[in-house]
Amino acid sequence: MTDTFYVTTPIYYVNDVPHIGHAYTTIAADVLTRYHRARGRETYFLTGVDEHGQKVEQAARKRGISPKAHCDEMVGPFKELWERLNIDYSYFIRTTNEDHKAVVQKAMQQLYDAGLIEKRTYEGWYSTSSERFWMEKDLVDGKDPDSGLPVEWLSESNYFFLMSKYKQQLLDYMKKNPEFIRPQSRFNEIIGFLQRDLEDLCISRPKSRLAWGIELPFDPDYVTYVWFDALLNYISALGYQKDDESLMRFWPAQFQLIGKDILTTHSVYWITMLFALGVSPPEHIFAHGWWTVEGRKMSKSLHNVIDPNVLIDAYGADAVRFFLMREIPFGQDGDFSHAAFINRINAELANDLGNALNRSTALTQKNFDGLVPQPDEEETDDDRELKKIGLGILGDIREHLGDRTSDTEKSVNGNVHFSLALDKIWLFIRAINKYIDTQAPWTLAKNNDLKRLQTVLYNCLEALRFAGVLIQPFMPVKAKELFEILGYADEALSAGDFGTSLASFDTIKTWGQLPPNQKLIHGQILFPRIEPEHVENILRNILQLASSKEEAIEEFSAIFPKFKPKQADKWVTSLVGDTFETRTSGKQQEKEKGEKSPFEPAAEVTFDDVMKLDLRIAEILEAENVPKSDKLIKLMVDIGSEKRQLVAGIGKAWKAQDLIGKKVIIVANLKAAKLMGVKSQGMILAAAENDTVIHIPELDPQTPNGTRVR
Ligand code: MSP
Repeated sequence: MTDTFYVTTPIYYVNDVPHIGHAYTTIAADVLTRYHRARGRETYFLTGVDEHGQKVEQAARKRGISPKAHCDEMVGPFKELWERLNIDYSYFIRTTNEDHKAVVQKAMQQLYDAGLIEKRTYEGWYSTSSERFWMEKDLVDGKDPDSGLPVEWLSESNYFFLMSKYKQQLLDYMKKNPEFIRPQSRFNEIIGFLQRDLEDLCISRPKSRLAWGIELPFDPDYVTYVWFDALLNYISALGYQKDDESLMRFWPAQFQLIGKDILTTHSVYWITMLFALGVSPPEHIFAHGWWTVEGRKMSKSLHNVIDPNVLIDAYGADAVRFFLMREIPFGQDGDFSHAAFINRINAELANDLGNALNRSTALTQKNFDGLVPQPDEEETDDDRELKKIGLGILGDIREHLGDRTSDTEKSVNGNVHFSLALDKIWLFIRAINKYIDTQAPWTLAKNNDLKRLQTVLYNCLEALRFAGVLIQPFMPVKAKELFEILGYADEALSAGDFGTSLASFDTIKTWGQLPPNQKLIHGQILFPRIEPEHVENILRNILQLASSKEEAIEEFSAIFPKFKPKQADKWVTSLVGDTFETRTSGKQQEKEKGEKSPFEPAAEVTFDDVMKLDLRIAEILEAENVPKSDKLIKLMVDIGSEKRQLVAGIGKAWKAQDLIGKKVIIVANLKAAKLMGVKSQGMILAAAENDTVIHIPELDPQTPNGTRVR
């Protein structure tokens, strides 16, 4: 099978160093690339940095250096991080590259010549912090609704891309390609967005206001505005409109991975730009969710930005890759915590996979001098069952990794569910452990049943070879080490690309490819269990937030369940002492600052009381502000069996249009009421502080509407 696979990440602003949010998309793209390459496809993986625009210009000015010098420096931490995480990109684009600039200018000229770019005078409230104009109605207390910073009234001439012309074409395209934007809720969000008027897109800034950009080829007083320049990177990197367009064979990209905050720019601005240029759209745009840290938004002001380098130092690159792909469903928001990290690594890597490997190699070492035994031809049902799971797994994970739906079919299905793919892989790994338990090779050895022992151990080792192939896209270094442990020699491992040779997915289409008599290595620990002594600094930081010793011990025991209370106490004392009464813990400080209200339980209810509530999954179809109210939003929701109108007091935290497509939990049997004259049949559940809604819990977009929640 030879076809192509092209995946892109957003290009990251160089106004700051990378954090786990950036690492997340880049790892996801790398996993997809490695998987599709190991499936026999020719892959191209693009990442890079976005260097123009006001934010970068300001960051450089703050440091007292030129924007170019700033970019040259800031690009370093990105490239170094990708190297440490073994990100195998094909090309790293910088938007200050001459080649890229030339493509942007050619594209602008083409659109200008075709009458698709026009000069107009524009007036509005301009926000420097968001680099955009806002309409009067969008402002909150006269300020930028996103940043809360002041805006100024500006009137200036600018160039506009006639985006509005393409509204119908985009809607038609989406109708014909229902898997174009993933997950489904994001697709719905864009459909909702397109129900309103689509405006033309301002694509320039006068040089007098912003000099750091690409000059318009038809007016030297202007530069392009960030998005027009940035979005074109996805094809300029392939040599679009250059003499050598051979890389354009990778276009259209199968996946353009983005974060949920840049959905509109990619699904609307970018796609209409492509329509205007006569270039086909990508197959899928996939918008993933955002990471919070220990339940809070990651932000500089909260000092909780997670530097992936710190995680790599503490846990190793492959563990970081694994955790980020495993912990939360791609597409949903999720929370990062060291406790969750350590738990998962210990349970799934050290325990499940590590144990299966250690037990198999130890028994082979002991009974067969470390030589892979020759299996017997006779098979038991248990052997067949293990093989069946192993041989079925490729079929199981394909649909989760954006694979072609069949080997001959051109288009992928658009589903990317790393965590589900890993679920399937881990079911298999646990099946290996179960097989070892039920076959009890130690008893076979004791009874001198060598023939059966050979077969059982061979099956275990062969199953581990399968596991190596399967984890390779996620943990390339560990997969290679696993192959080394299974006895593959250096030459075999380094011949060609490991992922396309020994770890090609074709090698797990048949059972029995592990060569008997190969000498394996026993005693090398693939995934060392994380013990408190390995992560003392991290633990100290976590435990210091506790407000009492009991709480600290509880935290510690949740991370390391194997420790008895006495040992946990000892660790806590050695790490943070036991003078909790006098320490003002992080959590206390928070309370004092009033950032989080203390938990005061409401009156107890019985199980029956809870069951009286008819809680349902609903999808928001329409949302609009209730006139004269800044808090109430009128919603039309789909609860499976019917559509419902309800009014929610969430207008201070949410803009109506951002709610469309969201899945929420509603109380469906709440007595109907009228709020400011508008009928409401039910209420949505949301997290509130001091009666102001701050968060609507993120739900699995796949859950069908109307599902009962209990
Ligand atoms: N430069 C633009 C993208 C241009 S693409 C043509 C940009 N850059 S960014 O550096 O601000 O953000 C890059 C990506 O990081 C976005 O996809 C954004 O969603 C992602 N993330 C930023 N914070 C994040 C989390 N806390 N969690 C997950 N991803 C997050 O936007």
